[in-house]
Amino acid sequence: MQLFLDTASVTEIRTMWEIGILDGVTTNPTLVAKEGRKFEEVLREVCALGVPSVSAEVVATDTEGMVREGRHLREIHSAIYVKVPMTAAGLKATKVLAREGTRVNMTLVFSANQALLAAKVGAAYVSPFIGRLDDQGETGMDLIRDIVQIYRNYSFSTKVLVASVRHPVHVLEAAKIGADIVTMPYSVMEKLVQHPLTDIGLARFLKDWEKVPKG
Ligand code: E4P
Repeated sequence: MQLFLDTASVTEIRTMWEIGILDGVTTNPTLVAKEGRKFEEVLREVCALGVPSVSAEVVATDTEGMVREGRHLREIHSAIYVKVPMTAAGLKATKVLAREGTRVNMTLVFSANQALLAAKVGAAYVSPFIGRLDDQGETGMDLIRDIVQIYRNYSFSTKVLVASVRHPVHVLEAAKIGADIVTMPYSVMEKLVQHPLTDIGLARFLKDWEKVPKG
């Protein structure tokens, strides 16, 4: 399973990239706005690190505008995946972009039927938002289970990118189901690394090592 960071912070991305556990990055307009930096400048810096998959979202809402923005974004770097929202206009734009060889990440997906449509128009990734479903009293992970099963039934090549992740249990559950990718905030990825027993164990080993005769 691939692990992506859901952030537009180059500092966060660089840290995880240097540890060696990062497979890709997803951004969205909200995350970009938080950084207060020019979008394309951020994209170029992230791509220059060598991150192989970087999702950048279009903001147009009509097909023509989405296609135009998508073509522009993909020219920035070969690592760019174009994020397109799950609307009728977005499906149409995805079909055009996918035919041209642009890899589309279909975003804002909240139902298995929407995911089925994303696969049919040739999206490279589908992004179901599980945290936002949990937030309103549904079980987001059930959606992942359904999409994984449907894609297997018909051998769709679209990858399931679990988005809107809130905590490490989301990552664990997605891995057990067999989702292809999970994108998460920096704070969640940090928690994947840490365990209090690791820290306690290491401190004890180092203390005991002091008792070992040296020289
Ligand atoms: C996915 O690509 C989105 O950027 C993201 O996961 C949305 O998460 P949120 O619900 O925490 O905003």
